[in-house]
Amino acid sequence: MQVRAAVIPAAGLGTRFLPATKAVPKELLPIIDTPALQLIIDEAVGAGIDRIVIVTSPSKPSIEAYFEPSDEVLSKLRSTGRHALAKRLEAIGRDVQVTFVHQHAPLGLGHAVACAADVIGDEPFAVLLPDELMGDSSLLDQMARLCESTGGSVVGLKRVPMQEVSAYGVIDPSTEMDASGVVQIRTMVEKPAIEDAPSDLIIIGRYVLTPDVFAELEHVQPGSGGEIQLTDALRAQAAKGPFHGVLSNIARYDTGTPLGWLSAVVNIALDDPAIGEEFGRFLRSRVS
Ligand code: UTP
Repeated sequence: MQVRAAVIPAAGLGTRFLPATKAVPKELLPIIDTPALQLIIDEAVGAGIDRIVIVTSPSKPSIEAYFEPSDEVLSKLRSTGRHALAKRLEAIGRDVQVTFVHQHAPLGLGHAVACAADVIGDEPFAVLLPDELMGDSSLLDQMARLCESTGGSVVGLKRVPMQEVSAYGVIDPSTEMDASGVVQIRTMVEKPAIEDAPSDLIIIGRYVLTPDVFAELEHVQPGSGGEIQLTDALRAQAAKGPFHGVLSNIARYDTGTPLGWLSAVVNIALDDPAIGEEFGRFLRSRVS
């Protein structure tokens, strides 16, 4: 079955980015002039997704507002000849069907994914964490095709120095990694001590999951802070059937913290054909 749907969990509190996130959801923080959330949607569309479920919170109404038509702005842009920008605004949400579901309390990533169960139904789906930006759609595309061919869930992977593993979900591979970065996964451990970590491969914010994960999530007991962890449901899936990881070397930015967001903006701006050159000159003048 083809992977056509995606869930974007965006109901968290964004505490690492306060006070900005008091009024602006971190998913809408701009990467130059585009909300991070839009870049995540573009990545999904590039991997063949045409149906997106955004899990949001009633306290973050601006996420839904971003997708609403903006007639007044559009007519202003047209009357002043800014047709290209008007077209860009009109295209928001056009190439993909966007549905919203509310998570009423931030009870963890697993709980956020479970909130999308009824809308997703009985088909495989991608999960994209919107505070991790990828350079392009290639990783998600490879993961989706792998899920389609194996019939099992797939997670995105990153290799980190061993002394950093304790902050992440770490996989226990059951095979060598092949030339395209694919590895079979036996199980995974959340935030292990360095000496207990089964590898230096951590799970990043890209998943392609088979729908049986919803049944597994129903059995997950809340962990620390009362949160339902997605990793617990993934571990149950890995124990029952094929489960793979894909390591990719495309660019990846963690935009959930001020430093990560700033690094993403600087890197992306330097490559931007419209402003990159001038911005590069400015940066050089500041650091020289
Ligand atoms: P994070 O833990 O990075 O986001 O979750 P957060 O909780 O908003 O941020 P901090 O740690 O307080 O700064 C990864 C993604 O999962 C979503 C978040 O919105 C974020 O995009 N999420 C997390 C939910 O939708 N619901 C939750 O209960 C938890």
